[in-house]
Amino acid sequence: MLLIGVVNTQECLEKMTAAFDGANLFFGHGTDNSWDEACWLLETLARRRALPPLQLDTALPVDLLAEVEALATVRIETRKPLAYLLNEAWFCGLPFYVDERVLVPRSPFAELINTRFETLLKTAPRRILDLCTGGGCIGIACAIAFPEAEVVLADLSPDALAVARINIEKHKLGDRVQVVESDLFASVTGRFDLIVSNPPYVGAEEYEDLPAEYLREPELGLLTGNDGLEIPLRILEQAATYLSDDGLLLLETGATWPLLDEARTDLPFLWLEFEYGGEGICALKASELRTQSR
Ligand SMILES: C[S@@+](CC[C@H](N)C(=O)[O-])C[C@H]1O[C@@H](n2cnc3c(N)ncnc32)[C@H](O)[C@@H]1O
Repeated sequence: MLLIGVVNTQECLEKMTAAFDGANLFFGHGTDNSWDEACWLLETLARRRALPPLQLDTALPVDLLAEVEALATVRIETRKPLAYLLNEAWFCGLPFYVDERVLVPRSPFAELINTRFETLLKTAPRRILDLCTGGGCIGIACAIAFPEAEVVLADLSPDALAVARINIEKHKLGDRVQVVESDLFASVTGRFDLIVSNPPYVGAEEYEDLPAEYLREPELGLLTGNDGLEIPLRILEQAATYLSDDGLLLLETGATWPLLDEARTDLPFLWLEFEYGGEGICALKASELRTQSR
């Protein structure tokens, strides 16, 4: 009875926001506060009914309010990220299908893709690899940013790749985006002008302390070794072989970045800065990776 007495958009959003705040939900999967989460839920359900854009004083249909109430209640009771309840997440302004087989997209890679990596790439990449692709959001957004590029989406999880295939189909990219089931580079062939990767980088201790919402996501997508470095280190060791001579690796390690920086003092990491939040993406050229001392 979350929305009892509610008639219009403003009342609906205010009551939902209060209920989310009261339940101490965590917001880190597409929004960062309860009001935005409430707007996302209501807007999505209204859009699916093809209602005209909502104003704060728009009177809402009773059956829409019932649906909003039902989903808001599941969000509170299960702590599932809203993206899973809506089967939709937005990345680079593009809609992606998501479910519990993949992480909810939220990477600062979006900011780089939106500028087509303008400060990092001299020419448009012809072959792009999205390693640890999950539902494919980063690689698919790259494919849309670079309409001439061929893109490979690689992941160890067949479940994640099933979702990536749905998203390739959704964006009608089957002619130049393909998926490869692969333990990192093991089944990947050829060289790439750009490798983008948002791999698992959470350590065991940090994982234990994550809010409940994160534990609804596949553990394989988050946890790697005790310190969160196992997979990032493997990527650094292997990437050079798969980069073209002018190729670039962009690797995300979030808050684990200082540990990686310390673990590989032989590498000239360029840690990127972001206007819209996020941290921990480094850029390394093929030539820099080829001279590494291990
Ligand atoms: C942090 S999620 C990232 C998903 C997606 N790139 C994104 O930004 O939303 C990491 C992904 O790495 C995959 N993964 C974990 N270990 C892997 C491995 N050894 N080889 C390839 N992919 C792996 C997981 O299945 C998961 O989909």
